[in-house]
Amino acid sequence: MLENNNDSVHAVVWEGGVLRLLDQRLLPHKVEYLSYADSAEVASAIRDMVVRGAPAIGVAAAYAVVLSARAWYARVPERWKDLMETDIKQLADARPTAVNLCWALEKMRVCLAECENPEEGLLDEAKRIHAEDVVACQRMGELGAELIESRCSVLTHCNAGALATGGYGTALGVIRSANKAGKIQHVYADETRPWLQGSRLTAWEMVQEKIPVTVLVEGAAAHLMKQGKVQWVIVGSDRIAANGDVANKIGTYNLAVVARYHGVKFMVVAPTSTIDMRIGQGDQIPIELRSEDEVMMNQCKRVAAEGAVGWNPAFDVTPADLVDAIVTEKGVVLEPTAKKMAALMTQ
Ligand code: MRU
Repeated sequence: MLENNNDSVHAVVWEGGVLRLLDQRLLPHKVEYLSYADSAEVASAIRDMVVRGAPAIGVAAAYAVVLSARAWYARVPERWKDLMETDIKQLADARPTAVNLCWALEKMRVCLAECENPEEGLLDEAKRIHAEDVVACQRMGELGAELIESRCSVLTHCNAGALATGGYGTALGVIRSANKAGKIQHVYADETRPWLQGSRLTAWEMVQEKIPVTVLVEGAAAHLMKQGKVQWVIVGSDRIAANGDVANKIGTYNLAVVARYHGVKFMVVAPTSTIDMRIGQGDQIPIELRSEDEVMMNQCKRVAAEGAVGWNPAFDVTPADLVDAIVTEKGVVLEPTAKKMAALMTQ
């Protein structure tokens, strides 16, 4: 059973004082929610990809702070705020590239500083972070769809959909809105090794909405573009530097290079909570290195030659000059530069 609202599935649900996360490791074969009443378990769920996608991780972490506050206040009421620090750090460290995680935790910290007990506004703040992300996605959907010409085909990478956000999606939000406006002919979804977010999650979301979708291996993208089959590449982001450089799922940079070569436009869709103005340029963005097992194994069986080692960076950085448009809820930045990003963030 899907939990639908605003045309899309919910990856993160707060219900009856418990956090429920749609286990994205099981999709598309099984739609199963896991329940969490403990902040450390939410940190593990983030690290283990039960919940993934930068905005969704931020929302889940915000609710985890509520769980931590309630637990420590019940056990050690005189020191509950101090004792929460370890939980918050554990959450912040769970996935280093997705800046929405630290952004959401910072918002919760500000709220925490002002409250006398866990029931004074923390849950409201987490719900606000969640709800505002959905509204931001819908606005980005409208703005991004305006950039797309009629009846065009698009290529997307990883999953930047409802599953990766509070709801509706960033890149897939644009595709949803453009589809409603009759502008989408076809969606191509990169399989996205090694977690297969494209073939498992993006394709699933598109099928749910009857948007025609074709899955391809990442290596097929240049061949697809050479045949003139796509007009836009549309992706999300985990962190955007102050100069407009974009960190996103590994393989995004390849797509941007190949897109520029073939004259295909490249759009990044991300809320302003993904923009990190403290980081000047992309090479300062921490890139999460995950276990080599994710590359060397398939369904718990080793497929790579014994004796070889694996390298598994989860993200890469696309330089701003390969990006045609960054779409945020505050507006669109065409051909991003540090100056244009600063103007967006100060408006
Ligand atoms: O490793 P993941 O699945 O969390 O990576 C997700 C992505 O790279 C998304 O494109 C990004 O977080 C934006 S989601 C709206």
